[in-house]
Amino acid sequence: MSQPPKNLQTIESHIMNLQSLHPNASGELTGLLNDITFASKVISREVNKAGLVDILGATGDENVQGEQVQKLDDYANAVFMRCLGTKGQVSIMGSEEMADPYYPDTSNGSGNYVVVFDPLDGSSNIDVNVSVGTIFGIWKKKSRLANIGDVDLLQPGRDLVAAGYVIYGSSTMFVYSAGHGVHGFTLDPSIGEFLLSHEDIKIPFRSCIYSVNEAYEPKWSPEMRDVVRQLKYGRATKTTRQDAPGKGAGMTARYIGSLVSDFHRNLLKGGVYLYPPTMEKAEGKLRLMCEAAPLAYIVENAGGYASDGQQSILEITPRKLHQRVPLYIGSRDDVLWIEKMVSQAADPI
Ligand code: AHG
Ligand code: MN
Ligand code: MN
Repeated sequence: MSQPPKNLQTIESHIMNLQSLHPNASGELTGLLNDITFASKVISREVNKAGLVDILGATGDENVQGEQVQKLDDYANAVFMRCLGTKGQVSIMGSEEMADPYYPDTSNGSGNYVVVFDPLDGSSNIDVNVSVGTIFGIWKKKSRLANIGDVDLLQPGRDLVAAGYVIYGSSTMFVYSAGHGVHGFTLDPSIGEFLLSHEDIKIPFRSCIYSVNEAYEPKWSPEMRDVVRQLKYGRATKTTRQDAPGKGAGMTARYIGSLVSDFHRNLLKGGVYLYPPTMEKAEGKLRLMCEAAPLAYIVENAGGYASDGQQSILEITPRKLHQRVPLYIGSRDDVLWIEKMVSQAADPI
């Protein structure tokens, strides 16, 4: 018989410890985070079954953004809708898969929290057994009265009270922050628990990995082409990168095409992810509220940085739920350099 592991901490007890740092906490956020971990276990089970049962392929529907919906997108969305805020903690939910925000009956507007999520990120990768994920952000409701609205929903990332993501990969991991570091938990399927595996994650300050879909190069601005060329061949301008790994040389490339997976690798190993605007998509592809802002919150709590090329992603106040944004995210020094290059360009990139 093998020895029991020395430090067994479940995510539930970690979240509970967090609550003890806030003596006046009502326990609502604790309950909500636990609801999210439960939802992610249900989704994980379904993702793992995807190769075994006939749930693969597109439903044929298009989501509000004109993209093909895979069956697991629908499933993951339904799981989140059913599992979240079961005790009335949530007054508004926003999902990548739903055109409009949803106001749960369970709280009648009295719930203190607003949750926005991408229930299944990278879903086009499911059919080929590549890691996918879930992303969520939690804000506190601003209005005191029950008549909640856009002022509660459309808040900047800077006001997030917690955010996280789940990666359904070779194992399922849950990574979250509530402002006290970034912590990662790995699902042990045999006991159905997320166990603390990555405490207080810090992203390397500089990196030697860039992640971008370079097939779009012809659709980038000349300035963006130059940014990526310099990442690849080495920077022309003198920067603090001189003592970075691969001194004097360019970086190497990694691109999975699942934002959560690319982000997760870069968070642990160091790296910078780019999704610049293209000629067709002047605001980029990724969504501010359900993708960029929660990951920006995570990366900043891990010592990294996220920018839209002009400012921190966390400073942007959304105009609408499904707003898109250019995204440069990862190791702090690398993202700051990209932001400087982009913001100094004569024409906006
Ligand atoms: P989603 O599956 O939630 O629609 O997100 C897909 C996103 C993201 O996961 C990924 O990084 C990006 O789309 C890839 O886009 P390209 O295929 O244009 O590179
Ligand atoms: Mn996504
Ligand atoms: Mn999605």
